[in-house]
Amino acid sequence: MQSLPALLDARLRAVTGVDPEMRPATKPQFGHFQSNVALRLAKQEKRPPREVAADIVERLDVDDLCEPLEIAGPGFINFRMRSEVLAQAATAVLEDPHGGINPVSHPERVVIDYSAPNVAKQMHVGHLRTTIIGDCFNRVLTALGHTVIPQNHIGDWGTQFGMLIEEVLDEGIDASALTLSEADALYKRAAANFRENQEFATRARARVAVFQGGDEESLRIWRQLVEISKPAFNEAYRRLGVLLTDDDLAGESTYNDDLPVLVEELEESGVAVVDDGALCVFVDGNEAPLIVRKRDGGYGYATTDLAAIRRRVRDLDADRIIYVTDARQAGHFSQMFAAARKAGFLPDRVSAQHVGYGMVLGTDGKPFKTRDGSAATLGSLLDAAEEVAAPNIALAAIKYSDLSNGLQKDYTFDAERMVQTTGDTGPYLQYAHARVSQILRKAEAEDISFGAVTVLDEPAEQQLALLLSGFGDTVDEVARSLQPHKLCGYLYDLAGALASFYEACPVLKSEGDVRASRLALCAATKQVLAKGLDLLGIDAPERM
Ligand code: ARG
Repeated sequence: MQSLPALLDARLRAVTGVDPEMRPATKPQFGHFQSNVALRLAKQEKRPPREVAADIVERLDVDDLCEPLEIAGPGFINFRMRSEVLAQAATAVLEDPHGGINPVSHPERVVIDYSAPNVAKQMHVGHLRTTIIGDCFNRVLTALGHTVIPQNHIGDWGTQFGMLIEEVLDEGIDASALTLSEADALYKRAAANFRENQEFATRARARVAVFQGGDEESLRIWRQLVEISKPAFNEAYRRLGVLLTDDDLAGESTYNDDLPVLVEELEESGVAVVDDGALCVFVDGNEAPLIVRKRDGGYGYATTDLAAIRRRVRDLDADRIIYVTDARQAGHFSQMFAAARKAGFLPDRVSAQHVGYGMVLGTDGKPFKTRDGSAATLGSLLDAAEEVAAPNIALAAIKYSDLSNGLQKDYTFDAERMVQTTGDTGPYLQYAHARVSQILRKAEAEDISFGAVTVLDEPAEQQLALLLSGFGDTVDEVARSLQPHKLCGYLYDLAGALASFYEACPVLKSEGDVRASRLALCAATKQVLAKGLDLLGIDAPERM
């Protein structure tokens, strides 16, 4: 389905030969869309802009779409869509089997690396953001027809297991019987010992090599820690209502066997060179190299990521790879992508993007803490929101605040404000959906569709229809830019237009074709609100 601005854009482009930069009109009296193309061309051609605009209008044939064109102010061209064209666009959304979304003509295989909590540690607020954001990308790209392959790169390997295993052995506990919060406490005791006790630290370091060398006892404890962590992660996913399952797990340990082979290849090909005892890949723009093998022979986070990206291209056949982590890892990813390109693991035809997000702040402007002052876990944050609202509303509140600001920005976790049903919040959109559902229930209309005669004469009806026709473009834009706030902003505008429509246009009390058209407009809006919320991972209740 081609959107109205896209149709106009194509015609105007054919006449002017340049990008017309179609924009929504800034005021209702300017119509629905506006282009400044005449002003730009006039500057180039050194002619009066209104004269250039008149020339364009003269040559442009859009009679089938628009009311007679107007030239405004210094030379803007204003477009007002004909009401039957708007009615048709709204009808098309309602009748579209894809609900107004445009499936892509070339589906891609898209790997999304998200969530990725660490074994034996509680998920923290940062993991809340990656889980919600990654899940939204998953939903949007899937809806467009791409094949999404989620990869949950959990931290289930690495040097922290040296100290964890030593601590388990010292305390003589059964790691398989721990809950995740007990494991988290164990982690903290181990870390404290590691800092304060020389002898423990030495043993913990030695344990890393023993464990990674395949020692049975160490591996048994490691496996137990992994196994008790997974159900806790799944419980968090269930509470959050996200799509991740055990099938998506591809933790760091998955790549162990690849590491020595990969590193050797890099050394042989000369992509990696020894520098001060460590094996390094130097990439342009970074003074410090990417270390693929440490001086002690160990492999770290970066080496594992190189192995992972290689498999994602080679075995998972990815066309696009998206990583969602906090913004502080931006440097790691840009360097890792460059090293992967240099090594030939990441061919030019495959795109790799890191989406970094900001921190979750408390109302005091500092990193969010629980009431007792400890760093907030994901669970405690959900609890805080559920104290002030029902679970599905609390969740909508959290997800919407997470997605509705630019991702890079820090966001303030203010439970009281987030759950309000007024203002730019998730519950406000849920409420808009519930209210329109109620109207449709009351109408008890059998089969709601725009009848033979659709009347959309009121500006508020037209505005609503216009917005509905832009849904597909908005979703495309989110898939392209990976900026969910554009969809949030769109849905907020739609809910606002719906409210203005109720104010100006009685629905249930109107009659005949007008009533049928208004009901159909309500049905189309409900459908788009529900689909849009679904893409954000937010539930759209019938009643509230
Ligand atoms: N486990 C890491 C963390 O908690 C995130 C891993 C992100 N993914 C990756 N491929 N490096 O920060």
